[in-house]
Amino acid sequence: MTQLPGLLDTEAIRKDFPILDRTIHDGKKLVYLDNAATSQTPRQVLDVLNEYYEKHNANVHRGVHVLAEEATELYEGARDKVAAFINAPSRDEVIFTKNASESLNLVANMLGWADEPYRVDHETEIVITEMEHHSNIVPWQLLSQRTGAKLKWFGLTDDGRLDLSNINEIITEKTKIVSFVLVSNILGTVNPVEAIVRRAQEVGALVLIDASQAAPHMVLDVQALQADFVAFTGHKMLATTGIGVLWGRQELLEDLPPFLGGGEMIETVSMSSSTYAPAPHKFEAGTPPVSQAVGLGAAVDYLSAIGMDKIAAHEHAITEYAVKRLLEVPDLRIIGPASAEDRGAAISFTLGDIHPHDVGQVLDEEGIAVRVGHHCARPVCLRYGIPATTRASFYLYSTPGEIDALIDGLEHVRNFFG
Ligand code: ALA
Repeated sequence: MTQLPGLLDTEAIRKDFPILDRTIHDGKKLVYLDNAATSQTPRQVLDVLNEYYEKHNANVHRGVHVLAEEATELYEGARDKVAAFINAPSRDEVIFTKNASESLNLVANMLGWADEPYRVDHETEIVITEMEHHSNIVPWQLLSQRTGAKLKWFGLTDDGRLDLSNINEIITEKTKIVSFVLVSNILGTVNPVEAIVRRAQEVGALVLIDASQAAPHMVLDVQALQADFVAFTGHKMLATTGIGVLWGRQELLEDLPPFLGGGEMIETVSMSSSTYAPAPHKFEAGTPPVSQAVGLGAAVDYLSAIGMDKIAAHEHAITEYAVKRLLEVPDLRIIGPASAEDRGAAISFTLGDIHPHDVGQVLDEEGIAVRVGHHCARPVCLRYGIPATTRASFYLYSTPGEIDALIDGLEHVRNFFG
């Protein structure tokens, strides 16, 4: 068995994830390498969810009965856990949403309805990058269409990094918001936050960071990032689907208007007008995703008990090994940084002229789950002149043996397609 420095005790960890024991396609062992799309859920989180529904399920913030109070305590307790996990200065800065897309759309809409000094209009500019997920492109296109604001973006270098050579022309005095991904879901690139934030601060622009592929894999300290908003999602970090997070600086959350209206987000309502509850409730209209938030709290407990620094070290070792082995495969081209430096645990590649969907299908027949397509980041594929990629992505339970299985699977693909 291949041993690498810095690996976690995956034998013990994998016992917490029953799904990883599955066999598929007539007894083939499942090799799950699609963690950037969604991660698996450990027993510890499943147990908490089960207990929630067996003992505490109720609506939150509304009832005076015991179950309502318990559910509220669990929901708000999850907010405390998430706040600590990201080193938020205040628990009131943590807004629960349904996913990262909703978190990103929420900021675009806060700014779209805001007054000065935050208002986005035809005299202002919005900055994104060419490596964004569609969820950090389309909301800004919509806002730009609605307000007349100019949408600008950083391009990419040939090796899959942001081209910041023209940073002073892209981020200018007119820029209202710079929104960019911390770790690319398709290229795996880890972006240089400090340089971008520094320039944004120079011109007084707000900064939103999409940390969907970062929060599950590394220490995420919102104070160290010095951004104004940070978005991420639960289902990529061992929790369930249906729960996302938007962290925002308290004074901004106080100043900015709500987007969704409804129950829970108000202070008083009359037929002619309403006043709003303080943040975070101002941004959580309707019954929130209670059990999903409780599950996220349990996932955060699980990750914290292992240690995000140890998880990052494990994934770095796995990624380094994967890059080395993938580069040995004839005709394989890594789309993105072809080293383990400043990159996350998602690796996209093409294999000669075999279509990625065919690669994915043959790998699946071998029990290996990868994602194929444009990964909701189509501009990246256009930039590199490819229709799609195959993407393998790892997590704390990934093993060197699974990388070997992927390499054997790719050999099989090459033989299959001659
Ligand atoms: N954003 C997820 C991915 O990259 C779905 O696969």
